[in-house]
Amino acid sequence: QEDVFKKLVSHCKEYGFVFPSSEIYDGLGAVYDYGQNGVELKNNIKQYWWQSMVLLHENIVGIDSAIFMHPTIWKASGHVDAFNDPLIDNRDSKKRYRADVLIEDQIAKYDEKINKEVAKAAKKFGDAFDEQQFRSTNVRVLEHQAKRDALHERYSKAMNANDLNELRQIILDEEIVCPISGTKNWTEVRQFNLMFSTEMGSTADGAMKVYLRPETAQGIFVNYLNVQKTGRMKIPFGIAQIGKAFRNEIVARQFIFRMREFEQMEMQFFVKPGTELDWFKKWKEIRLKWHKALGFGDDHYRYHDHEKLAHYANAATDIEFLMPFGFKEVEGIHSRTNFDLSQHEKFSGKSIKYFDPEINESYTPYVIETSIGVDRMFLSVMSAAYCEEKLENGETRVVLKLPAALAPVKLAVMPLVKKDGLPEKAREIMNDLKFHFHCQYDEKDSIGKRYRRQDAIGTPYCITIDHQTLEDNCVTLRNRDTMEQERVAISELNNIIADKVSI
Ligand code: GAP
Repeated sequence: QEDVFKKLVSHCKEYGFVFPSSEIYDGLGAVYDYGQNGVELKNNIKQYWWQSMVLLHENIVGIDSAIFMHPTIWKASGHVDAFNDPLIDNRDSKKRYRADVLIEDQIAKYDEKINKEVAKAAKKFGDAFDEQQFRSTNVRVLEHQAKRDALHERYSKAMNANDLNELRQIILDEEIVCPISGTKNWTEVRQFNLMFSTEMGSTADGAMKVYLRPETAQGIFVNYLNVQKTGRMKIPFGIAQIGKAFRNEIVARQFIFRMREFEQMEMQFFVKPGTELDWFKKWKEIRLKWHKALGFGDDHYRYHDHEKLAHYANAATDIEFLMPFGFKEVEGIHSRTNFDLSQHEKFSGKSIKYFDPEINESYTPYVIETSIGVDRMFLSVMSAAYCEEKLENGETRVVLKLPAALAPVKLAVMPLVKKDGLPEKAREIMNDLKFHFHCQYDEKDSIGKRYRRQDAIGTPYCITIDHQTLEDNCVTLRNRDTMEQERVAISELNNIIADKVSI
């Protein structure tokens, strides 16, 4: 699976999807640029989300708030004081790690040991193997399990109590070594705030420290009453936003899974107090359905309900996706109570209560949030779509089986040869169709090579213009997935393709 992931990363680069930022200067950690195909796929993902949220829900509207906001907002939201990672340094390698990640990796090691025992026994006993019974009776498995559970409990307690000394003690007791130096020479654990900051205004006037937003949500909270009043929205209603967020992530690995500059698609849904858990349940279902509608297979998704809740939440779940490196969070659905709005009332001194005409009362709404990372969604789509197929002639083709609606290019237009008026005819067709969907003209190399290039970027359809086209006004339409070809009239192309590639 690691191998698949490596191939995917190089495919993303080779075909203009994702490049490391500032590459000619040796890159910048956990920052990436999207290339010519990447930006199209990313835009299509955003459009797919925006349409399902804002166009299909009459009670959800969009906004686009600024990245810079008044710094007190981050005090009120709790980010200045509590948006921290516990960090620990190894004295020999001088490398910095997240203490919680080191411990979680250690917990995963016990799981690995257990799985190894199970796999070994399954191989030995074959069909007669009863996994359940083996797990509950095998001495070695029980030993690993007991150690794992004890560690998990100790770790959860330390995290909940924010006990940094205890986190360090766990690392020492478990004899966790630095992956670089291989030594156990650890420093104290310190809290490290994840927000980037900069200065606004000139220093002579007294510059103000401002933050790059670590989530887009706060821009919605501080605007919710503006939108409610000007849009005459009635509770329950939602506000959606797509925009950049920034976090100074320390464990920056796994390509675009964890970035320092990334994009979020968030929707805050404002509800009457007391109804929030029903809405939480509804949004959980709606969001999973949205993911599944892409057709990658239901087995690629699962919920992960949180035991440990953030300071603002009374329920939270993740939608996880099966990435090449296991099930990972793609989207979070949180019941954020009235925490944020109440805090903004307190810190701003302004009343931002909602007047409910149905009960003639004012109250601070409760909020359900759905929050998904565009880049993580991008990675999940790419990893599910990436496919190496053995062909009948023994060759292998790499094909991105992207849902047609998300594909960067919808149609490739190819004259069979570069003469006899075929390029002119191909251009004529393209000039008509390019107003309806993204087309790409390609006349270089053999038809076979051109098909492979389009397969590799996930183009769902190719048409070939040949000599017969000049006589019968028909072209050959090739389907990416089945590789089947059919003869269709040029006048029919728009109908056939637009129908299949629309979101
Ligand atoms: N407003 C709530 C919020 O920001 P979160 O769970 O911290 O919640 C939501 O983030 C989503 O944003 C995640 O599920 C993930 O898809 C994406 N995300 C968070 N940090 C990220 C990072 N460093 N790089 C890429 N995506 C990230």
